[in-house]
Amino acid sequence: MGALGRPRRSCLAVPGSSIKMLGKAQGLPADQVFLDLEDAVAPLAKPDARKNIVAALNDGGWGNKVRVVRVNDLTTPWTYRDVIEVVEGAGANLDAIMLPKVQNAAQVQWLDLLLTQIEKTIGLPVGGIGIEAQIENAAGLVNVDEIAAASPRVETIIFGPADFMASINMKSLVVGQLIPEYPADPYHYILMRILMAARMHDLQAIDGPFLQIRDVDAFTEVAQRSAALGFDGKWVLHPGQIDAANEVYSPAQADYDHAEMILDAYEYYTSEKGGKLGAVMLGDEMIDEASRKMALVIAGKGRAAGMSRTATFTPPEQG
Ligand code: GLV
Ligand code: MG
Repeated sequence: MGALGRPRRSCLAVPGSSIKMLGKAQGLPADQVFLDLEDAVAPLAKPDARKNIVAALNDGGWGNKVRVVRVNDLTTPWTYRDVIEVVEGAGANLDAIMLPKVQNAAQVQWLDLLLTQIEKTIGLPVGGIGIEAQIENAAGLVNVDEIAAASPRVETIIFGPADFMASINMKSLVVGQLIPEYPADPYHYILMRILMAARMHDLQAIDGPFLQIRDVDAFTEVAQRSAALGFDGKWVLHPGQIDAANEVYSPAQADYDHAEMILDAYEYYTSEKGGKLGAVMLGDEMIDEASRKMALVIAGKGRAAGMSRTATFTPPEQG
């Protein structure tokens, strides 16, 4: 409950088949963990992985992390058992279910109804468990608006680049890599499309994995592209990617300070004492109501990330 709005700068993938990794993940500084039953778990290992995940959620110490389980997609025979076993077993210690390869609103509504049934059965608050919808094929992207609107449980829309590239026959095999023969960024449209749907419904937009886990510089470069658009976070597949994600999806200290300064200055100048001004100069910059809105975004991200300001605004007559 209440997971929406919590930072998800780094979303750590943890295979449910690995008891060792389920243990190790608890101490890592990722904002979110998602315990995987889908593509990181072999079909024959899925039944045991469900049990490992229930035990890890109930017995583990996950701190403030957003706790998510990724179930299998609805074209497989596994999804309903994944949801029932995990939520009946550990629903009180779980923030959201991630549904991969979502294609339309009906699939999200199916999950919403099933979660409601389980919550009623085991006595959890109805609606408490959220949904994260992963967009990984053309149908999902074309229907992303209805997917975002399908249930009040939806908290995030996630880009799944590996499956997505396969599903649309994209030429590159390296997720996030720019394609030399193509002058533009092939991911730009997809990311923007997801971002628009997410923002329209006040959801978080999350970028997917980068598979070259040893190349943190390349990870950072790819992350910076979605962070620049406004994405809230990115998957991390390895502990080595966590710090980079936390940094890229937090504002820089100078930007955070500047945003807080704009908020204070604008509040002062629009007040009686400040002259009831709607457009004023702050240093070399003209600020108005739209500047306040932009500053609120940056300040909000910085506050959510626990940043503290290192500069203050001094009204002119006192300065
Ligand atoms: C993640 O699930 C992806 O397919 O990129
Ligand atoms: Mg995928």
